[in-house]
Amino acid sequence: MADDADLLAYRKRFPALEDCVHLISHSLGCVPAKAFDDLAEFAELWRTKSITAWGDWLPEVDAAAQRIEKIISAPRGTVIMSHNVSQIMSILASCFDYPSGLGARNKIVYEAMQFPTVSYVWQAEQRRGAECVLVPSTDGMTIDADAMCAAIDERTLAVPMSHVVFSSAYIQDAKKIAARAKEVGAHVILDCYQSIGTVPLDVVDLGVAFACGGSVKYLCGGPGAAWLYVRPDLIQEFAPRVTGWFGNEAPFAFTMPEQSYADNVWRYMGGTPAIAALFQSRAGQQTIGEIGVRKIRDNSLVQTDICIKWVDELGMKLNSPRAEAQRGGSVVFDFVGSADVCRELNRRKFYCDHRPQAGIRIAPHFYTKTEEIDLFFGELKKIRGGAGG
Ligand SMILES: Cc1ncc(COP(=O)(O)O)c(C=O)c1O
Repeated sequence: MADDADLLAYRKRFPALEDCVHLISHSLGCVPAKAFDDLAEFAELWRTKSITAWGDWLPEVDAAAQRIEKIISAPRGTVIMSHNVSQIMSILASCFDYPSGLGARNKIVYEAMQFPTVSYVWQAEQRRGAECVLVPSTDGMTIDADAMCAAIDERTLAVPMSHVVFSSAYIQDAKKIAARAKEVGAHVILDCYQSIGTVPLDVVDLGVAFACGGSVKYLCGGPGAAWLYVRPDLIQEFAPRVTGWFGNEAPFAFTMPEQSYADNVWRYMGGTPAIAALFQSRAGQQTIGEIGVRKIRDNSLVQTDICIKWVDELGMKLNSPRAEAQRGGSVVFDFVGSADVCRELNRRKFYCDHRPQAGIRIAPHFYTKTEEIDLFFGELKKIRGGAGG
């Protein structure tokens, strides 16, 4: 099948692609040329306007939030920007208390294949009285939605789960799990890091309480521009203990000594936002919003299918789902010596990564030419052949 010319027209915004084969957008999206200009704009404001630069800097927080709202189909005023997903999880964890005693609601349920940083935050909550229940995978690749639902009961407080599993690209049935959670009064916190920008997202339709993610991967925005969505009816329900003056109803009134929370989504903000990161993330988010994730997804399904055909042809073990409806934007595969081959591929500027117990991960994105996928697997075959199979 021919490449999508409309999509490849955006490639010129990413000149760095011409020096490498970039199949690493599940981990680090390619840098847009405009990110350099945007960062220069940030620095120039700083140089020329000193303290008054805040008048130009601060609106960038809401501008970034609005770009994210568009991408995740969220209503206006439901997203704030933060530094990273770990920080967001800590803010959300600090919204909860864990009563003790028989039948107390103190359970946190998530998949055993969760991205470790998220697990670390919630495991630490056990010191405050949380009880973490991890739902295992039976095949090391997928997670049974019924098993997730069965683990969620009247004692469950929160379900901090991945939308797309980082080590296999399996898409969890977030809608079904969120419905179960809602039925028993629990809150799904959907980590969309591996879906935003490559799998269409509609947080309202999914029915989740919270959603979050970052800009490093398919959004091509670099680090430091993570986002949090809060369902409108929940915004005022919580008072996060992990907080700061930007979460205050009037930050520049400098009221003392206690926090008086904003009545909008800014109540989930902490201290000073990372403004440079917001400038840097602008171009990638704009491009994704402009193209539309549905179009990106259609192309991703075609190209990940081509990757899977190569995996089969080279006799490697596929560790991602074959079914389109279950497969996110990346393809994971393994063979003996895969970690060394990955290292050599990166040395040769065929960018990919490797995860223990999973293997090599690759992800085409809207800017990928099919020819580059063929080049990648051709190179991998050469290296593997040289390494003795
Ligand atoms: C599913 C998922 N969650 C979270 C993260 C990262 O979290 P943080 O923003 O805290 O670095 C990643 C990858 O880096 C991820 O794949």
